[in-house]
Amino acid sequence: MNIAARLRDGSQETVANDGSGSEALEPGSQVLTPADRAGSAEAAQGVPGGSKVLTPADGAGMRPDSGFRVEKLRDGFRQAYGHEEKGPLRFFFAPGRVNLIGEHTDYTGGLVLPAALSNGTWAVVCERNDKVVHLVSEGFTPKVICDLTEEIVNTPEDGWANYPKGIIKAFLAMGAAIPGLDIYFYGDIPKGAGLSSSASLELVTAVALNTVTRAGWDRLSLVRLAQEAENGFVGVNCGIMDQFSVGLGREGAALLLNCATLAYRHIPLALGKYRLVIADSCKQRDLGESKYNERRRECEDGFRIIKRYRPELANLGELGLREWEEVKKYLPAPTADRVEHVVRENHRVLSSAAALEDGDVLTFGRLMLESHRSLRDLYEVTGPELDALYEAARKAPGCVGTRMTGAGFGGCTVSLVEEKSLTDFQKYVARDYEARTGLRPIFYPVSVGGGAREISPAGEGDQSDPNPEDSGEGGALFSGEDGGKRENKLRQTGTSGC
Ligand code: GLA
Repeated sequence: MNIAARLRDGSQETVANDGSGSEALEPGSQVLTPADRAGSAEAAQGVPGGSKVLTPADGAGMRPDSGFRVEKLRDGFRQAYGHEEKGPLRFFFAPGRVNLIGEHTDYTGGLVLPAALSNGTWAVVCERNDKVVHLVSEGFTPKVICDLTEEIVNTPEDGWANYPKGIIKAFLAMGAAIPGLDIYFYGDIPKGAGLSSSASLELVTAVALNTVTRAGWDRLSLVRLAQEAENGFVGVNCGIMDQFSVGLGREGAALLLNCATLAYRHIPLALGKYRLVIADSCKQRDLGESKYNERRRECEDGFRIIKRYRPELANLGELGLREWEEVKKYLPAPTADRVEHVVRENHRVLSSAAALEDGDVLTFGRLMLESHRSLRDLYEVTGPELDALYEAARKAPGCVGTRMTGAGFGGCTVSLVEEKSLTDFQKYVARDYEARTGLRPIFYPVSVGGGAREISPAGEGDQSDPNPEDSGEGGALFSGEDGGKRENKLRQTGTSGC
């Protein structure tokens, strides 16, 4: 059975939306405010403004499943719950994600190219037998208690814990037998930075519950369940990209996904002498306050008009460039600009995937620049800080591509930088960005890791294949009879020439 059919068969519940959730209520991430960051001891290592210069070696030894990490998690659990745990501990991890290209396309049924990070959220789980789940997150107090015999509701005071509560509620609705659990969460993704700390928290909870309850749901069902919990229980109207990449990411590869059909393919990230660098603008974004929902509505409005002329289209993601040129005259401003971004961004995603498969890093870098300009000028979701970071990065030593990543209005950029210039790049960007905005960026060297999974207590790597049902591989990225032809044509066309 194909993915779409399997998911249609699934019986996930959509829970009530009380609208009180917020991206700002993040989990056990290592949450630093710009002020915290500037004042921290590690923040001052030779870069103007106190930003830390990171080298590729900074990522080494930090694997999510390293023995060192597992021992720290065990200590954290013991501090949270007392030294004597009541039973064996199990350890789970779900990554954050960085979207390489394909921004604001997922909710229109378009294409995206994200990658999972080696940073993410860990959960340490111990069973209890009293039908009560205790949730503790490092750095967040107090403990949140969830009585499984009562109705689970979104409570604003529970903050970050509403994300795991939404997952617990969805599992109960599907008939899972949760015995009662002590869960300790620890995360190292900055909150509100556009790196999907919420999807990471959702998926780590989902994989843990799936394992301890032996529910046996496949990874795609967990991804769908997590997205529905965020939409329905937390109240954030996100697309499927974040949960999908967190659930199905693969080490060393990006994930090319058609968000309408859920067909996907892993694209090896052979970047040669280049590295991906994430820079946090330290301007926090908030999906609720942003224009995210307004953009979604504008795309829906645009598609409604386009449907009158192209009734065969199932979603905006199916609209090709040629068809767009024919119908764009029917759309009012600024709806036409929004749709133009979506159409061209989809082309850029396919061109990027083709370039990466060919080892053509420079073309991918050029497409990243085009993508940022389109998000700035047509989709209008960047804002002064991300634009300043973009301007600083594109002129910095060794940079061949840079763009905002995530929802926008603050958060991070991702840049493609020559390895030998990493230090100079960061120094240049920090100085230039601070001069433009008064803010100090934070840099993260990107290590592309695997999807959500259980990790072994001995720190010996994964206990199970994170993607046991990789059946989306090789599926058609475009639906419709000429889907294959369209993909091939796009591959030959190269860049979209925005
Ligand atoms: C947020 C949402 C995603 C996606 C991006 C924009 O991260 O959660 O679903 O829409 O914004 O590409």
